Amino acid sequence: MVWSLKMPNQKFTKFLEDRVSELKQSGFAAHIRVLSGPNSTKATLDGKEVLILCANNYLGLANHPEMMQAAKDAVDKYGAGMGTGRMIMTYDIQNDLEKRLAEFKSSEDSLCFATGYIANLGAIWPLMAEGDTIVSEELNHASIIDGCRMSRNVNRLVYKHLDMKDLEEKLKTSAKERSKGKTMIISDAVFSMDGDICKLPEMIELAEKYDAFIFLDEAHASGVLGKTGRGTVEHFNAYGKVEVQMGTLSKAIATVGGYIAGTENLIYYLRRASRPFVFSTGYLDPATCGATMKALEIIKREPERVQRLWDNTRYFKKGLQDLGFNTGVSQTPITPVIVGPAETARELSRYLYEQENIYVQAFSYPVVPKDTARVRTIVNAHHTREQLDFALGAFERAGKKLDII
Ligand SMILES: Cc1ncc(COP(=O)(O)O)c(C=O)c1O
Repeated sequence: MVWSLKMPNQKFTKFLEDRVSELKQSGFAAHIRVLSGPNSTKATLDGKEVLILCANNYLGLANHPEMMQAAKDAVDKYGAGMGTGRMIMTYDIQNDLEKRLAEFKSSEDSLCFATGYIANLGAIWPLMAEGDTIVSEELNHASIIDGCRMSRNVNRLVYKHLDMKDLEEKLKTSAKERSKGKTMIISDAVFSMDGDICKLPEMIELAEKYDAFIFLDEAHASGVLGKTGRGTVEHFNAYGKVEVQMGTLSKAIATVGGYIAGTENLIYYLRRASRPFVFSTGYLDPATCGATMKALEIIKREPERVQRLWDNTRYFKKGLQDLGFNTGVSQTPITPVIVGPAETARELSRYLYEQENIYVQAFSYPVVPKDTARVRTIVNAHHTREQLDFALGAFERAGKKLDII
């Protein structure tokens, strides 16, 4: 029985009607496709089998049998859910996972959150106090922007995308304006819409010069960058130079959750000062802990997964470029195909799904700048050459049909 068909409050009803009508007109997320089985390279989406070319399942772990078994074993041992907040009692498997994540990130300790989004919210503002300054990269993820917004009485400066001169200017301004406060440089490691990488070595130099510390969001870097997939610090050999590493469990590690890794004191402090940690019971259930620890074991045991991801990335990116597509400035498995108008991006996505049985998602303003609408492709370690060749053929047919190439 549904009781709320006619809501009593008129203002609230009108508010919702207006917002829904605006969203429908904008075409934003007009239809969210439904997955009815595992998120594999081939999957059943809206009832038909398609090649998935846009998931964050970088290492192909999302339905790994060993992870599924580890989740089941953890449920058998600990039960289905939580039933308690971690400040009251914490399961040994939760602590074990945090130790393993710390090791994965070459850090002293780590702390988990319900999602990567919440990890950013939950860590940024407790780290900043009145009179401090945040110097934030222009294209940072929404969760960083929201975490910065929640940091009250803090100076906030934004530097231009990957522009180290501008970062230096902002650090100079912050050094002049602050008296005793500290300064944090915060950036995505890999930018999710363009697939480019932050300039960590230059950021470290500037941080040292202007007495700042670094908070790095490794959401698209962990499991992807570095020879063994440990992320940007491994990629740039910058061990011990990044004070706060944030990551998500839901992309390359392919389970659910987020984490912060760093020194023992950082984690001791956040365990007591981070509100999403202290005031929430709903995260890091036994199944997630079991599957995540297994994922970390597989990544360590099979570094060739990272190699395969990069072989596929290079092959597919070059294939798209050779066909004449604009792939922007991508340096990672995130390879946008930039087409300009929003309608063309939507058409390309629709054509590939309907005619070629390939799923890539379209993005347009305000998610990306105006006139740079795109479909975002992401290959993973499990795509076969045959699948990638098929996809390149399909992109060629679609590109010609829609006058993109
Ligand atoms: C750069 C970046 N940071 C944080 C997040 C949030 O992580 P999660 O999906 O685990 O909430 C995302 C997710 O899309 C992301 O791309």
